[in-house]
Amino acid sequence: MTDTVYLNGELIAKNQAKISILDRGFLFSDGIYEVIPVYSSAPFRLEQHLSRLQYCLDQLSIPNPHSNIEWKNIIRTLIERNGGGHLSIYMHITRGVGLDRNHIGGESLSPTVLVMASPLTINEQAIQTTTATLLEDTRWHHCDIKSVALLSNVMLRNQAEQLGHGEALLHRNGVITEGSTSNIFIVKHREVYTPKQSNLILGGITRDVIIELAENAGLRLHQENISKEQLLNADEVWISSSTREISPVTQIDDKIIGNGEIGPVAKALHSEFQTFKKSLIQD
Ligand SMILES: Cc1ncc(COP(=O)(O)O)c(C=O)c1O
Repeated sequence: MTDTVYLNGELIAKNQAKISILDRGFLFSDGIYEVIPVYSSAPFRLEQHLSRLQYCLDQLSIPNPHSNIEWKNIIRTLIERNGGGHLSIYMHITRGVGLDRNHIGGESLSPTVLVMASPLTINEQAIQTTTATLLEDTRWHHCDIKSVALLSNVMLRNQAEQLGHGEALLHRNGVITEGSTSNIFIVKHREVYTPKQSNLILGGITRDVIIELAENAGLRLHQENISKEQLLNADEVWISSSTREISPVTQIDDKIIGNGEIGPVAKALHSEFQTFKKSLIQD
């Protein structure tokens, strides 16, 4: 059961947690979030997630309400109180509760902090494939900020779902950015390509792990623009995220990718990923 949440210093039941209608997160989506996978009760890449959290808070000039030591204690307590094991930790920080609805201001507010846990449903034995649809990236120009303003992501992800696909892959003027909830990699002639870091994509923590693992495995990895044509003609395509790890995309709309099976590079990196996770848990 994952029904204990942390809200502004208190551990309470999920269905009892309440925020003010004047919270700027509620009124303006004036806040950021973070999602941290937890394997066997151990948070994965915690330092990197906390650094991204700091980066996002800095972009919005929201003061970080906690030191990293405090965050680690909150997360550890929440893991314990929610039964441990494999979990996904969701952190949500808004600028706080204003006196009234007003776009400007908010400098002196005390941030609202919510941390929740939910089960992490990752099948470590079998690689989870997916299919995708290719859609125009209708999001804003600060996709590097993990903003709680996810309306376009939600619309795009739902559009994919309605078409019977597990992800929406996005492009801006024919240049691939990322998925609606994930980063993108492609493989051509055993070389790996992923869009370079910019304000148009989220700097995924899983993306960074995969880049490290690919380079350690001696694969040539390019961080550069990928066109729609390159995507559709790739030998392999996969998406990455904290909750899906590496998920091969076997079909994009009507186009079968490669031979429609899990490719050898995805298979190898998925296996490296599992080994890497286990090595951290045993430490
Ligand atoms: C838009 C978007 N890009 C990329 C990612 C992957 O980021 P991470 O690997 O840190 O989970 C996510 C994760 O939710 C996302 O929402």
